[in-house]
Amino acid sequence: MNLRTRLAEFFKRKENAVQGGGPKAIEKQHAQGKLTARARITALLDPQSFHECDMFVEHKCEDFGMDKKHFPGDGVVTGTGKIQGHPVCIYAQDFTVAGGSLGLMHARKITKIMDQAMKLGVPLIGINDSGGARIQEGVNSLAGYGEIFFRNTLASGVIPQISVVLGPCAGGAVYSPALTDFVFVVDKISKMFITGPEVIKTVLGEEISMEELGGARVQVEISGNAHFYAASEQECFDQINRLVTFIPWNNKKKADPYPAALPKPEYSLERVIPAEPTQPYDVRDVIRAIFDGSDFFEVQEHWAANIVVGFARLKGETVGIVANQPLVLAGVLDVDSSDKAARFIRFCDAFNIPLVTLVDLPGYLPGVDQEHAGVIRHGAKILYAYSEATVPKITVILRKAYGGGYIAMCSRHLGADFLFAWPTAEIAVMGPEGAANIIFRAEIAEAADPAAMRRQKVAEYTEKFANPFIAAANGHVDAVISPQETRGFLIHALEISAHKSESRPAKKHGVPPS
Ligand code: HXC
Repeated sequence: MNLRTRLAEFFKRKENAVQGGGPKAIEKQHAQGKLTARARITALLDPQSFHECDMFVEHKCEDFGMDKKHFPGDGVVTGTGKIQGHPVCIYAQDFTVAGGSLGLMHARKITKIMDQAMKLGVPLIGINDSGGARIQEGVNSLAGYGEIFFRNTLASGVIPQISVVLGPCAGGAVYSPALTDFVFVVDKISKMFITGPEVIKTVLGEEISMEELGGARVQVEISGNAHFYAASEQECFDQINRLVTFIPWNNKKKADPYPAALPKPEYSLERVIPAEPTQPYDVRDVIRAIFDGSDFFEVQEHWAANIVVGFARLKGETVGIVANQPLVLAGVLDVDSSDKAARFIRFCDAFNIPLVTLVDLPGYLPGVDQEHAGVIRHGAKILYAYSEATVPKITVILRKAYGGGYIAMCSRHLGADFLFAWPTAEIAVMGPEGAANIIFRAEIAEAADPAAMRRQKVAEYTEKFANPFIAAANGHVDAVISPQETRGFLIHALEISAHKSESRPAKKHGVPPS
């Protein structure tokens, strides 16, 4: 064969491969508002940066009439590229080829690019659009999933792993995303479930649509399985482009610094915090008034909104923020908000991102529902995560820090390196009302005017404990600072901690509450 013939053969094979499942399947994909696998990669990565590998991989299954022609690339596109100049390894399942179902060679392509990401120390992005284990390949597809899950677990805390769910991800297809750091979903396109509507109908006799069962809103608002929600695929890709600017390539690096920027003048701390201690405010306005450019990239915005977590920058350096949200349930800690915060803290700790904690909460949420849902073990996760974390930990108590909430929100006792309190801080075992009711119960009951006595006792308790000075007098707080001083104190603390090195007792691994 001469060169010309070989080239013609090569182009023909390549043309066949990039056609995926063919024009009809591509049309169906487009009709659902979905891009094809290669188009997704192109839209997500920096222009012309993607280099595909394993385009000509073929499956080895001969059962159920499976031919090779109809499975180009075995239904997944893999390779390397750049995003915002950062190198990444990436795969995208091709739903036009057998529903993106995962057979053995499909899985091998994915595990190969995962191994590559680990060796090169770069993030892994997986675009998932799959009907799950390829039914025709039986146990071989299950084996393939197992090998992916194993690598997801080994890569956890070593390289950032980002999952994008862009289709009806069923069965095994959802467990790889669940093992990764961030899951992105898109309105009407993303569906995640272990067993689909048909199985539910057969087993339970219940009718439910895919959207109601595991659509994008369900995953970001109810289950907490997903972290970011977008209205379109392009918006989702823009979000990923933003995320990568805040995180490092791997656990040996720090996130790339950015040019420093002052907060925008329209965000003023004086205007955010209400005079009345029981009035709510949006803690995100506090964040915007303190951090660079008033730029806050929130994670899991739509789930467990009583706690706010996300990334921002201080003088160009990425920090992870954990903040109680007084606007929602007064910012209490409960089952979901504890899970949300704990996972975010562990991500930041694994990837050298200093933590800034903003505290304003009345404590853990009381009630039978929470107790029965396991608020003890879930609430313990945040204690564990903060205690385990060795990145710089800086805490600012804005207003209430009561009881277990005071301890849990990165108090000095859990290893905070710097602990600041605003003059409005109230640090006590519980709120003055509850405290007075308990410790002055007899005096209130026996008083000629119980209501007046109660008011007096609440005032006495407030005067004595609802301020930051007793904590400061005992050294639990390093400095009482005015809100206006906060940015300066945080920058100083961060700069001073630049070379912080703290270790924990050697062990195989801990056993965190779950
Ligand atoms: C083989 C599959 C497939 C699968 C879809 N296809 N899923 N082929 N194995 N798992 C094929 C279809 O036969 C079809 O082929 C093409 O992909 C497109 O599928 P459609 O059904 O036409 O698409 P749509 O109507 O959009 O429905 C998508 C779907 C549905 C909701 C994903 O296909 C579905 O329910 N699939 C099965 C999902 C499932 O139960 N998976 C779990 C597997 S068990 P043609 O040739 O007609 O175009 C599992 C266990 C692992 O994953 C557990 C690990 C922990």
